[in-house]
Amino acid sequence: MSPKHTLIAAALALALSACSPTAPEAAPEAAPEVAEAPAEAAPADAAAGMTQPAASARVVLAPLQDSGVAGELTFDVADGGVRISGTVTGLPAGGQHGFHVHETGDCSAPDGSSAGGHFNPAGAPHGDRHGDGPHHAGDMPNLDVAADGSAAVDQVLAGLEIASGGANDIVGRAVIVHAQADDYATQPTGNAGGRIACGVIELVNAPPTDASPAGPAPQE
Ligand code: CU
Ligand code: ZN
Repeated sequence: MSPKHTLIAAALALALSACSPTAPEAAPEAAPEVAEAPAEAAPADAAAGMTQPAASARVVLAPLQDSGVAGELTFDVADGGVRISGTVTGLPAGGQHGFHVHETGDCSAPDGSSAGGHFNPAGAPHGDRHGDGPHHAGDMPNLDVAADGSAAVDQVLAGLEIASGGANDIVGRAVIVHAQADDYATQPTGNAGGRIACGVIELVNAPPTDASPAGPAPQE
């Protein structure tokens, strides 16, 4: 063999080895299984709906004519009506004071007269809410004042509603504290005297609605 042929043979050998099948590359990865996304969305939405807060409202009482009487009361949905709870402060120790929901949410008059009469959508006479007879929807028991001048309030007011849009809806009405006790009998005011504090009932949480999509929680 001539040197030239030897070179050609070597070149062929190299070429052949280059063409020889190489070890297979790593086995192709198995196609990743597409994880079935469980339908979690619907149950989560349902849970969010269940945590939607019930309707609530509040009133901040401000003094009329420098009485010094103030307070903050919360209204929550209760069985058969609305529960009012909170504290009124700045009252003369040991007394009793008429306390009502009035018709008009306007405390602008210095004597509170802008709040109108007792909330009375049914046209009933004034009376004792916890007695047997008829009474205004806005009639409430007298405030009982402790030695420190505060009166704790915690009552269920049957028949009242929060943001229902109905006749017994208290949102946008006023709460008035009077200078004297309500006798639950004198028409139409219970002879409770002047008005010493007033506040407008404002909505805190709108009533839950089944139709509304889950959204951000209502702001306080
Ligand atoms: Cu009143
Ligand atoms: Zn009344």
